[in-house]
Amino acid sequence: MSKRAKLAQDMEFPPEIEQPNVYPLSWHRGTEKMEEIYEASLREFWDPMALPWDTFDVSKYSWEEREAIAYWWTILSVFDASAPPVFAGAFIKTYEDHEEDAVRRCFFSVTKDEQNHEQVCGLAITKLLEHPDPITYEPKTDLGKRLQKNAKWLYYNGARYWDGYKAAVPKYSLAVLFSSFLMGEMGAATIFHQMAAGAKEPVFEAAFRNIGRDEGRHMAICLTLMQRDYPKISDEDKATVTKQIRAGYLFLSAVLFEPPEEFWDIPSDFIENQRAGEAVAREAGFFVPEYEAKKENWRKAMLNLKSVLDKYDIPFPAIPEVGIDGQEITDIDMEDIIPVF
Ligand SMILES: [Fe+2]
Ligand SMILES: [Fe+2]
Repeated sequence: MSKRAKLAQDMEFPPEIEQPNVYPLSWHRGTEKMEEIYEASLREFWDPMALPWDTFDVSKYSWEEREAIAYWWTILSVFDASAPPVFAGAFIKTYEDHEEDAVRRCFFSVTKDEQNHEQVCGLAITKLLEHPDPITYEPKTDLGKRLQKNAKWLYYNGARYWDGYKAAVPKYSLAVLFSSFLMGEMGAATIFHQMAAGAKEPVFEAAFRNIGRDEGRHMAICLTLMQRDYPKISDEDKATVTKQIRAGYLFLSAVLFEPPEEFWDIPSDFIENQRAGEAVAREAGFFVPEYEAKKENWRKAMLNLKSVLDKYDIPFPAIPEVGIDGQEITDIDMEDIIPVF
């Protein structure tokens, strides 16, 4: 093993540092909007533990109801629990790319927010099930057993995209990553505002309100970066964005709508079990949008995204499931996924 040659003896200044290098020594400003969003993230920061958990009396619910409500939180956590490491990966990339100072701080704030969202899932599930883990929990009712089987399949599928994501981060530009993130944030902002409006338990109302506000801020971060970078996006990146939107639709449908069986590896009774669980949760007063309302939300979120991409002449994929025409995209696998929630 040869030791690195000492250069300082022969050179007045060190050689250029090879890039990408995680270590910027710069605090550039450029996108002022980013500073505003970062300041909002400080003002709006909240602590999941400080929500009114003591007002949430689980004993007034039956075990079937508790398992059904916990299942909804479990679906959410399949997405939200991957968000902290996903954004942490993107956060490191902002350093490697020597991004503007405020962009780095904004990505740090998203990482922390997502951890809050994940923590809320954990607090809700633990209180409802009296167990900190929906996978090793022993269901008490028949419905609980059926929903746990669903949860195991969701988790198995969700876990499949992690290696793909790790490979994608260095491969794609931040500009491509933003479009995938934006998709998650748009869907998330819509559903959480509705869940807050429909919630009966004060703790859930407060949680959904805070989470929805965070997601709105995350959306603003993505949009601001797209405004900065998309006017000069390459044709190759455009094609990747189109494919990622289709992939994101298939992936996020599991939480925002229903998981498409062509893409999700799920048993044939999955949808039936999920609908049964949601019906019991709704009966118990836990608001979950009905099938048609979910479909309409998802359609609106897609159309919003389409209006953003149209501005930059980025072709939108066909999403026939919600009646949107566009470019036909096939052959998408879980390993191709970048989007997060
Ligand atoms: Fe989130
Ligand atoms: Fe988010």
